[in-house]
Amino acid sequence: MEFENLKLELQSGILTITINRENKLNALNIATIKEIEKAFQKVYDEPEIKGVIITGAGDKAFVAGADIKELADVNYMNGRKFAEEGQEVFASIENCPKPVIAAVNGFALGGGCELAMACHMRIASEDAKFGLPEVGLGIIPGYGGTQRLTMLVGKGKAFELILTGEMITGKNAKKIGLVNHVVPKEEVIVKAEEIINKIMAKAELAIGQAIDCINAVYRDENGYQTEANSFGNCCKTEDFKEGTKAFLEKRKPNFTGK
Ligand code: COA
Repeated sequence: MEFENLKLELQSGILTITINRENKLNALNIATIKEIEKAFQKVYDEPEIKGVIITGAGDKAFVAGADIKELADVNYMNGRKFAEEGQEVFASIENCPKPVIAAVNGFALGGGCELAMACHMRIASEDAKFGLPEVGLGIIPGYGGTQRLTMLVGKGKAFELILTGEMITGKNAKKIGLVNHVVPKEEVIVKAEEIINKIMAKAELAIGQAIDCINAVYRDENGYQTEANSFGNCCKTEDFKEGTKAFLEKRKPNFTGK
């Protein structure tokens, strides 16, 4: 089987990736991280995939963190590599030119919270629980959590969540800007699909350029220059011609992704 720890379903352009280790609350062991990497290679390569939803199997957890059983064997010699490899996989999610939404249906702790934060948006169920409890294990978030949480919620809230290791509900996560929407549990996927469908009706290449420019805010570069270059790239596309023409002809655009 190509994937043992993930379930992949492609329907109407949306690839739903389900982290599928329900009896371990979908904890991320190394094998699962490698499969996420492989799944995103498909997302980058396969034109029929237009958007991605990431969720967790069962109704208890999105992902309850890195697999603590494996984590316990990490040491000074390989700890840095452990973090760097996870960071690289999560960066490929963040930099994906197609929209990626986390449908958080339960615990999103440690690496699970970090996985959700690497996605472009987060939809949470009311009873979802977010937290970065690593300091209680004697470590810190290592899959980008110290950086992305600070970007999403600001320094003061990031300090509180990371230093106390406390969990917050989906509702409170929305209040501090960690999630985009909070909905009843049975609607998390529906809401994520609704947003991706809206994005899929737009010009695909422009979406990819917009994602890259928003991410540029957090890279060490002149983001305005990046934006101007990307704007120029969009002006070369057939979809730009079609989008403006359709507006002037008072009709819906017929985008081709070219
Ligand atoms: N790594 C490995 N296994 C995990 C896990 C993790 N991060 N989180 C849960 N599990 C396993 C448990 O060991 C248990 O396995 P078992 O049935 O073989 O004993 C199973 O998943 C169910 O978890 P359990 O703890 O019994 O469920 P609960 O409802 O009592 O508690 C949590 C739920 C999420 C509060 C609790 O599992 C927890 O604190 N998990 C760790 C969270 C964490 O610290 N994550 C950050 C890691 S860096």
